[in-house]
Amino acid sequence: MCGIVGITRDTSVAGDLIKYLKKLEYRGYDSAGAAFSDENGLERVRRVGKIANLEKALEKGYEKYTCGIAHTRWATHGGVEERNAHPLFSSDGRVAVVHNGIIENAAFIKEKILPEGETFASDTDTEVIAHLISFYYENDPVRAVAEATSRLEGSYAIGVMFSDRPGEIYASSLHSPLVIAQTEDGSYLASDVLALPDRAKEIYRPGKGEIGVLSGKSVDFYDVSGNRLEKRPSEVGDSEKDVGKGSYEHYMLSEIMQQPEAVGNTLRELVYGGEVHVESVVGDTFISDKMDQIYIVACGSAYHTGLVAQLLFEKYSRVRTSVVLASEFRYASPILDKNTLVIFVSQSGETADTLAALRLVKETDAKTLSIVNVKGSSLWIESESSILTRAGREIAVATTKAYSAQLAAFYALALKFAYLRKGLSPEEYAAKCDALLELPEKIALTINMTRNKIVSLAKRIKDEQSAFYIGRLLDGASAAEGSLKLKEVSYINSQCYAAGELKHGTLSLIEEGTPVIASITQSGVAAKTLSNVSETKARGAYDVVITFEKYADICKDASELIIIPETDEIFAPSLTVIPMQMLGYYTALYRGCDIDKPKNLAKSVTVE
Ligand code: G6P
Repeated sequence: MCGIVGITRDTSVAGDLIKYLKKLEYRGYDSAGAAFSDENGLERVRRVGKIANLEKALEKGYEKYTCGIAHTRWATHGGVEERNAHPLFSSDGRVAVVHNGIIENAAFIKEKILPEGETFASDTDTEVIAHLISFYYENDPVRAVAEATSRLEGSYAIGVMFSDRPGEIYASSLHSPLVIAQTEDGSYLASDVLALPDRAKEIYRPGKGEIGVLSGKSVDFYDVSGNRLEKRPSEVGDSEKDVGKGSYEHYMLSEIMQQPEAVGNTLRELVYGGEVHVESVVGDTFISDKMDQIYIVACGSAYHTGLVAQLLFEKYSRVRTSVVLASEFRYASPILDKNTLVIFVSQSGETADTLAALRLVKETDAKTLSIVNVKGSSLWIESESSILTRAGREIAVATTKAYSAQLAAFYALALKFAYLRKGLSPEEYAAKCDALLELPEKIALTINMTRNKIVSLAKRIKDEQSAFYIGRLLDGASAAEGSLKLKEVSYINSQCYAAGELKHGTLSLIEEGTPVIASITQSGVAAKTLSNVSETKARGAYDVVITFEKYADICKDASELIIIPETDEIFAPSLTVIPMQMLGYYTALYRGCDIDKPKNLAKSVTVE
């Protein structure tokens, strides 16, 4: 996590460092800092808390600087204190470093490489990078960065300045995102394209062992031996741009509203002419009769989309499917052979655990496919094949539109698998393809049909200490996502359970007025879930049922009934999640929470 930016040019940089750093606040917001270089050496300012605190500190006295690096932090090593905020300096003050990533062998470097008695001013792993670069620095900065980075284990994207090289920034990365651009007015680096000026139409992504040198007039690249490299820039894609939050107060609400478009754009490329087209990414070998095991590997909400896909793959394609959290997968002992397909799901394509799992699978004969929202991300590049979701840039830490786009991609894939493996007849397949294409419209309708009720409900539950989400099968998968949405933005302790499990322990937690949110859309289990809801109501729960009109009658005793549009029930998760997302949003709003940047979280989790 953490975000870094760097600018060198002829004009003042402090204002733009803050401007672009703010675009990276989604990567962490515990503390922020900046360092500047000029002919007098290095100057540094750091502040605990949001970037606004740093902005205030830079208001006066820093206009003169034309070269600087800055950082927004999500603490991993060392508490949230000013001395642990970046930039970190070498002990001799010759080197300043901003870093995103984790140095896993920091202790080894301190003990075995750096001189005995070296003193450290912070508890961070990053500080060893500054010390190490200074240790190797005589008068060749590229060499010093190359020597130092060759000793680092873990992940890093770094921006480095030297006290005797005013106007120059050195950059390198390994397993952490870093983009560099040269525009007519200067040179820029950032953790994300979003934090580059709009006029940067072409970007460089330094590869392993490559060192970028930004001088304002040019950007040059060198290999570890100091040889100059000819590197080609790539174009900035549309999906990498921030579309803003429009007239909405928060990105989260704006992104909830963008879901019909996100799903429509995703499906448009996958489903047309009455069928699903994934041939270009999913060759026949992927889905041959021999494929006998699918793993879905992901984190957070992306993992929840896997719970939906698992049920569909097993029901219609009859392939054993396991959904595994990426942070568990690599340490378990998954059985991976040539008949195994492993599907990785990620909005960012940079989540460290998911990437680590992919790299592990690539050492086996299993096939890899990713469903990813960022073209050019590590997951996109490194998987054998990828399906691109078209949610566009998502800014709010709590995902909404990327989640819905992932679900849509999984639906397309599940229908295709089912058809090829004869789990659906041609007629059923065609009917389901048609129904799938109606989802964008139905999502829009769901927003309209449920928003007012959800606003009132949020006011009703905003002071609750806890909430429960329940459901069975596909409704259970939605419950998992709904529960996550509420807890991550409103900080209400919300938990999700398979509806039938409540009686095995959790019922003891139900008190007078405890909200229990159930989705009931699956014909085979609707009556069963309803009984479970009644069991909670009998113990005082305030029960909220999200369902189709056709079940309104049997659910009429619910404290609140939220009706969603009719659809083929396999697509219900795409609709039931909408009121749940809005419930998270509005509850957080009425509780006064920082919705787009919930405490302790970050959007892109690039540490394991
Ligand atoms: C973070 C985000 C979640 C997201 C998860 C996985 O925790 O806050 O919204 O689901 O990371 O991220 P990915 O980019 O891999 O989908």
